[in-house]
Amino acid sequence: MNQSTQIQMPVVEPELVEIPGTGLRVSRVALGTWAMGGWMWGGTDQRDAVATIRAALRQGINLIDTAPVYGFGVSEEIVGTALAGMRKQAVITTKTGLEWRDGKIYRNASRARILQEVDDSLRRLRTDYIDIYLVHWPDPLVPVEETAEAMRSLYEQGKIRAIGVSNFSVVQASRFRSVAPVHVLEPPYNLFERAIESQILPYCRANDIVTFGYGALCRGLLSGRMRPDTTFEGDDLRRVDPKFQAPRFAQYLEAVRQLDELAQRRFHRHVIHLAVRWMLDQGISAALWGARHPDQLEASHGVSDWALDVADRNEIDRILKATVINPVGPEFMAPPDRSQSKGSEEVTT
Ligand SMILES: NC(=O)c1ccc[n+]([C@@H]2O[C@H](COP(=O)([O-])OP(=O)(O)OC[C@H]3O[C@@H](n4cnc5c(N)ncnc54)[C@H](OP(=O)(O)O)[C@@H]3O)[C@@H](O)[C@H]2O)c1
Repeated sequence: MNQSTQIQMPVVEPELVEIPGTGLRVSRVALGTWAMGGWMWGGTDQRDAVATIRAALRQGINLIDTAPVYGFGVSEEIVGTALAGMRKQAVITTKTGLEWRDGKIYRNASRARILQEVDDSLRRLRTDYIDIYLVHWPDPLVPVEETAEAMRSLYEQGKIRAIGVSNFSVVQASRFRSVAPVHVLEPPYNLFERAIESQILPYCRANDIVTFGYGALCRGLLSGRMRPDTTFEGDDLRRVDPKFQAPRFAQYLEAVRQLDELAQRRFHRHVIHLAVRWMLDQGISAALWGARHPDQLEASHGVSDWALDVADRNEIDRILKATVINPVGPEFMAPPDRSQSKGSEEVTT
């Protein structure tokens, strides 16, 4: 049973945010579709995935985040299938700048790769424009300016309606912006992964860049579903995610237990609602919530129409400090550059 079925939430209008300079308005709770691709999530059920996207739209969640690498095309195809006949209801974010060989991924944000990938994505998504196109990871083997120039040319052609970068530092984003606009920056962000608070968030705020925080539930850890004996199947990344390994896993679970207790006592909510409300109140523009079953999004009703005050946020910080003694970030997910691939002799910069 997921937590949305334990506490009945009133249905409220979703919060929206405008993306300056684009005319786009997106829901502050967004649907992430990585798990729908199956790869690194122990497989996919495509029928459930399509139903999840349609359920999101019915709930007023219009921002759908995907990427070619999520299932090596599968996630984008699922998004295309789900949106057939309803394209205009959705704001699609997809990405570029990763390639894959033999099930392994490498960074490639060269001009040639980007120009090839955009057409593959348009075909899989069954559309003739991408609302928001992001560079998935910075590529140390390609000058940022080359990547930015390729993105700008797609923007000028009208194939993409907004430009974004993901996993970029402030220095990388600044160099990129000397060549092309950046409307959106997509970093990791959740209660357990807060590195962006020192530099990225202030930089984006100061420069009118909208932020999409990914991993809102810390790969399900903040859903409240995890137990000490929870296991994962197949290639599910949580089998290697350092947060899910003993003895650290117990620390995170204790944090979740105390956060859930706080959410129930103060707000008659659960940790899943608190986690996403906290992100939004911290000033992130939209929270990317990964889901692959339609009922997983019902809990998003419990996120709107309330706010955390300073005392609540201090109490959350106190809980995190007291429980998570050995914190670890999301760095294990960073893909290698092409110098580490067998085909590295083909790399051109
Ligand atoms: N730009 C980037 O580099 C980057 C990197 C990572 C992610 N992202 C984006 O951000 C999105 C969100 O991140 P994420 O998918 O990694 O993780 P997440 O949102 O932190 O967690 C997603 C997982 O939480 C579980 N969950 C969701 N709703 C639930 C509910 N109501 N009850 C219980 N469990 C629930 C599901 O796991 P189970 O299905 O196993 O139960 C789901 O797959 C991705 O889908 C992707 O679009 C972007």
